[in-house]
Amino acid sequence: MARVVVTGGNGFIGSHLVDRLLRRGDEVVVFDSQEPHPQIASSWEGVEEVRGSVCSPDQLAAAIRPGVDVVYHLAAVVGVDRYLASPLDVIDVNFTGTRNVLDLAERTGAKVVLASTSELFGKNPAVPWKEDADRILGTTEADRWSYSSSKALAEHLTFGYMRQRGLNASIIRYFNVYGPRQRVSFLVSRSVVRALRGEAPVVYDQGRQTRCFTYIDDAIDATIEVGTRSEADGECFNVGSSDEVAIRDVVDLIVELVGGGVGSTSIDTQDEFGASYQDLDRRVPDTGKVFAQLGWKSSTSLREGLERTIRWARENPWWLEQPEPNAG
Ligand SMILES: NC(=O)c1ccc[n+]([C@@H]2O[C@H](COP(=O)([O-])OP(=O)(O)OC[C@H]3O[C@@H](n4cnc5c(N)ncnc54)[C@H](O)[C@@H]3O)[C@@H](O)[C@H]2O)c1
Repeated sequence: MARVVVTGGNGFIGSHLVDRLLRRGDEVVVFDSQEPHPQIASSWEGVEEVRGSVCSPDQLAAAIRPGVDVVYHLAAVVGVDRYLASPLDVIDVNFTGTRNVLDLAERTGAKVVLASTSELFGKNPAVPWKEDADRILGTTEADRWSYSSSKALAEHLTFGYMRQRGLNASIIRYFNVYGPRQRVSFLVSRSVVRALRGEAPVVYDQGRQTRCFTYIDDAIDATIEVGTRSEADGECFNVGSSDEVAIRDVVDLIVELVGGGVGSTSIDTQDEFGASYQDLDRRVPDTGKVFAQLGWKSSTSLREGLERTIRWARENPWWLEQPEPNAG
C-alpha cells in the first residue's frame, strides 16, 4: 500500500486513476480546485479531498505532506476551448502549479509523475514521434500553443528538479485519451453526446486529420506502471495507441455504434474560426520505449473503447446533459 496524492483527481483521467489506486489498496488524497461529481465520488470510500489551487503552495501543502510516496500531478487547464478562452490560466497552472508540486515533493521526498501531452510535439510532420522528437510549434500569437509551451516548461522544470535537486520523477505524454466521464469538448466525447442526442456530430475540414485514440483504461494501466516501477524513474514516456485513424472514420464509427441515422457535418475552420486557426494533420506516437522498459502497449481496440464509452453514456444521463463548448 502506498500513500498517494492525485492533483486534478476529480477530472477525467484523475478520477479513473483514483478508482484504480483505491482498487490497489492505496491511501489516496485528491487535490483539486473543483468538487468531484457526486456520481463518481460516491464509491470513493476513504479518499481525502483537499480543495485548492496548485498555484497556491500553502493550499497544496495540505495535501503533499511528509509520508506521501507518489504525487500524480494531473491538474491542468485542458481542452482547446480553454486554451483559446484562458491562455493565462493555462500557463499559470501548468508552470506555477507544476513548480509548486515539484518543490513540495522535493521537500517531502515524494516521487512525482507529471502528466504531459502529445501537444508538446506540435506540428512536427515526421511521425511517429519518439520521446526525443523535435517540437515544431506555430506563432505565439496563436493561443493554442500556450498549452504545448507551458507543458514543455513543466517538463523542463521536472528534468531540472531531477538533475539539479535529486528529485525522483517520471513524465507521461498522453495521446488523445478518451472514455467515460471526459468533458464534452473533445472529439469522441462531443460526438458521442451529439449522436446520442440525435444530433449530427461535427468534424473540421472533412475530418481528414488523423489521431491515435487511447482508451482510458489503457492510459491508467500505463500511469500505474510509471508510478510504481523503479525502471520508470527519471524517464519520460509516450503513452498512446499505435492505431492511426482519420477523425472522419472515428465519427462514422460512433454514429454506427449509436444506431446510425444522424450522419455528420463538416465545418470549414478558416471560415468559422479565421485564418489564425491551427490544426495538426497527424499525431502518432512511437511507443517502443514504454513497451521495451515497462511492457505496456494499448490493448483496447477503438471499436471496443467506443462501445464501452457509449454504453456508459447511456447509463449516465447526467453526463449527456453537460453543456457543449463552442470550439475545440
Ligand atoms: N485527456 C487527454 O487526452 C490528455 C492528453 C494529454 C495530456 N493530458 C493531461 O492529463 C491531465 C489530466 O487531463 P484530463 O483530460 O483529465 O483533464 P480534466 O480537465 O478532466 O482534469 C483536470 C483537473 O484539474 C483540475 N484543475 C484545473 N486547474 C486546477 C488548479 N489550479 N488547481 C487544482 N486543480 C485544478 C480540474 O478541476 C480538473 O478536475 C492534464 O495534465 C492534461 O494536460 C490529457
